[in-house]
Amino acid sequence: MSKKLNVAVIGLGNMGRHHVRNYSEIEKVNLVAVCDANPQIAQEFAQKYNCQFYTNPDEMFQKEKIDAVTIAAPTVFHYEIAKKVIQQGLHVLIEKPIADTPAKADELIDLAKKQNLILTVGHIERFNPAILKLKEIIKQNLLGKISTIKTRRLSPMPHQIKDANVMIDLAVHDIDICSYLLDKQPKQVYGTLEKTLLTDRADSANILLDYAGQSCFVEVNWITPLKIRTLCITGSKGYAELDYIKQEIYLYESNYTETKDQNNLQTIVFNPSEKKAIEVKKTEPLKSEILHFLNCIENKTTPIVTGKMARDALEIALKF
Ligand SMILES: NC(=O)c1ccc[n+]([C@@H]2O[C@H](COP(=O)([O-])OP(=O)(O)OC[C@H]3O[C@@H](n4cnc5c(N)ncnc54)[C@H](O)[C@@H]3O)[C@@H](O)[C@H]2O)c1
Repeated sequence: MSKKLNVAVIGLGNMGRHHVRNYSEIEKVNLVAVCDANPQIAQEFAQKYNCQFYTNPDEMFQKEKIDAVTIAAPTVFHYEIAKKVIQQGLHVLIEKPIADTPAKADELIDLAKKQNLILTVGHIERFNPAILKLKEIIKQNLLGKISTIKTRRLSPMPHQIKDANVMIDLAVHDIDICSYLLDKQPKQVYGTLEKTLLTDRADSANILLDYAGQSCFVEVNWITPLKIRTLCITGSKGYAELDYIKQEIYLYESNYTETKDQNNLQTIVFNPSEKKAIEVKKTEPLKSEILHFLNCIENKTTPIVTGKMARDALEIALKF
């Protein structure tokens, strides 16, 4: 049996706590340390998970033997912490977005590459089993040629996010998913960014990604009193609706006949289509993401979410 990997988590807030819990549940790793700028939080986690705690990553690197790190500190700190992690020769899973500028993302990607280290980014929806199923449906050509994807990621404002607007915090997920489902990058991006309830940063955005012949509409906001995370996709052979939270997909296969009238004008007559529930095996996306990160380290393979993909999503999110 191969040696257990020693892991640590930096940033123990809303997202970091789930990384810690998942690592603690995975047999093949030792959670050796946690690190948070807030000593009370760090100590509380260390007690709960029986590991060492630090408030300073440098001290943690000096004292502990670590192979891999999750960074779930606020976005504004991703670059400086990730740079230190990589310079220590450690593999890194950075929460999304990869950094706060594409130039900083490029530097991290380059540094990790030079040292042959795994760098991946927490674009967690890539591990949502409903998205994986939808990708399979697209590959099986059940939807035909994709015409349009429409995504909605709406909820009340997360009070802790102070260093990012709604594009950086939410839209990076959908931009990445649209490019993943269509297997390409958009040619043009249009959109509007609004300050609806907040006055110091945008809390609402509507984006049109033009993939040349295929379009994606991304609606994100922090001003909706309930949490909505959905995607609809229309193709020449069908239509599907996906719910990220429920991990559900409904598929409607098109059933039509084409006719031409006496003037040779085409008509397409649609027959009713049955709403078909697609079986999705529910899983915790974060657990799958972390297991994949560990597998990439063990097998020296390229992660599903590369630094470049995360950087491209960030660049688009910053256009507005
Ligand atoms: N993948 C996802 O779906 C998802 C969801 C939520 C958040 N996130 C990302 O995770 C990151 C953290 O978000 P959050 O909601 O958990 O924030 P949070 O404010 O709840 O937690 C951040 C934690 O980091 C600590 N911290 C602050 N500065 C630090 C530093 N320099 N070094 C170490 N620790 C530090 C804080 O004390 C806090 O405990 C953000 O980049 C966010 O975009 C991703």
